[in-house]
Amino acid sequence: MKRLSTFLMAAAVVIAAHSNVTYQVIPLPNSINMEPGGNVVLLVRGQGVAYPAENEKMLRNAQFAQEYLGVIPEADSKKSKAVMQISLGLQNPNPDAYTITVNKKGISIQGASESGVFYAIQTLRKSIEGEKGDTIRLPYVTITDEPRFGYRGTMLDCARHFFPIEFIRKYIDILALHGVNKFHWHLTDDQGWRFEVKSLPELAKKAGYRPHTIIGKNVGLWDGANTLFDDTPEEGYYTQNQIKAIVEYAAERYITVIPEIDLPGHMVAALSVYPELGCTGGPYSVWCQWGISDDVLCAGNPKTLEFLKKVYTELCDVFPSKFIHIGGDESPRRRWQQCPKCQAKMKELDLKKEAELQTYINKEMERFLAEKGREIIGWDETLEGGLSENASVMSWRGYKGGIEAARQHHRVIMTPTNNCYIDYYQLKDQNKQPLAIGGYLPLSKVYSMEPVPAELTEEESKFILGAQCNLWTEYVVSPDHAMYMLMPRLAAMCEVQWTQPKAKDYENFCKRLPLLQQMYRRLGYKYCTAIE
Ligand code: ACM
Ligand code: ZN
Repeated sequence: MKRLSTFLMAAAVVIAAHSNVTYQVIPLPNSINMEPGGNVVLLVRGQGVAYPAENEKMLRNAQFAQEYLGVIPEADSKKSKAVMQISLGLQNPNPDAYTITVNKKGISIQGASESGVFYAIQTLRKSIEGEKGDTIRLPYVTITDEPRFGYRGTMLDCARHFFPIEFIRKYIDILALHGVNKFHWHLTDDQGWRFEVKSLPELAKKAGYRPHTIIGKNVGLWDGANTLFDDTPEEGYYTQNQIKAIVEYAAERYITVIPEIDLPGHMVAALSVYPELGCTGGPYSVWCQWGISDDVLCAGNPKTLEFLKKVYTELCDVFPSKFIHIGGDESPRRRWQQCPKCQAKMKELDLKKEAELQTYINKEMERFLAEKGREIIGWDETLEGGLSENASVMSWRGYKGGIEAARQHHRVIMTPTNNCYIDYYQLKDQNKQPLAIGGYLPLSKVYSMEPVPAELTEEESKFILGAQCNLWTEYVVSPDHAMYMLMPRLAAMCEVQWTQPKAKDYENFCKRLPLLQQMYRRLGYKYCTAIE
């Protein structure tokens, strides 16, 4: 009997020491040093997490630890018996860097700044997914981690389809789970204006509405009067109060919201309210189909800049982001070629080609926004008439624009369609997924992206700030559908953004994915279960 109980006791120790936790999460931390021997510390929900007193952000981080790990925030003191400590002071110039140490003293997180602590908590949160009960066994470990890029973005188009504010909050939660720190919010387009402008109250009220939407694809179906439309109005805009709350919500999660008001093209919705801002004078109506409109803002009408300055003034009032996205993509110059006002402006400014008119507007906007301490970023078409002095470039038509901009020492976000357009199909068999805009961007192809082109010199490479995936929503009709397009491709993108190239390994990534998928299910996030 004695021998049996000794055996049982030994077995109990072994069982207690066992843990399923490997810390091999997505994105994969830079270094995970497990201490051999399988010792564990117990993370008991209901025990304390000590944070530096009087640091509001660290209190908020402790509250995140409470939400995700079940520990209770307590201001740090000598008497503290907390199982977990969060602190600052890690010596690393990367503000998002952190270390996690699990040893016999407990769980200790140190960040280079508060954001680093936040990411450490995310790593622990993902590590313990699937661990049940109030007592979780954590193997001894030292994790050191920091993201590769400072700009880790994701774009959502809320113009083509309107997404309710509750979903925007959820979207931000999803971005935070994946270590994303920039939410690029595409707010206006031909098919809808979603930003409340108080000095132009008609704008969002009228241009935030379209009576119906083309059924299926434009291409092939677009046939004038015979075109099929649904009978569902698409309607909505975000009030400035709602936006301020979103910006704050995102900031707590170390996400900057970068708004985009696309100019001078993709403006038909605005033109429908202010037809005098178009070269022909209209009339215009909010588009109910997709594509690129020849009707853009008139570059020769002084009212255009007055309008834009009103809009961007209010944009800056609610979005503190340093970067303000001015769009600039897909703006045909056909109307400008035929418009007396535009041609007169070209003559006045001694411009040789219409593309330079776009640069003229960009420069005006750059100067205007600089007075407010902001900087412009635009799609790569902004290179065509020459970049304004301090503009940054979002390279979407491949890498070419980004390479050119970096060589000119302009900052660049890489977001080439072939790797980053998650509005594309994600499976080869189109019948197995909802209608999409086209293309084929499987998970593996997102994962394979390298944001820094080999042809850049080391010096030029420094201008590549990071990468971003874009979710355009012509064919993305609901929050569930948006999540399905986003995940798990965002998981692949987040390793592009976070993990050092030498540590990237697609097979290994696929082995780590099920734990994250389990989390998606638990949190009610829809995702594409098939993987290619
Ligand atoms: C874009 O996809 N038109 C930037
Ligand atoms: Zn004009």
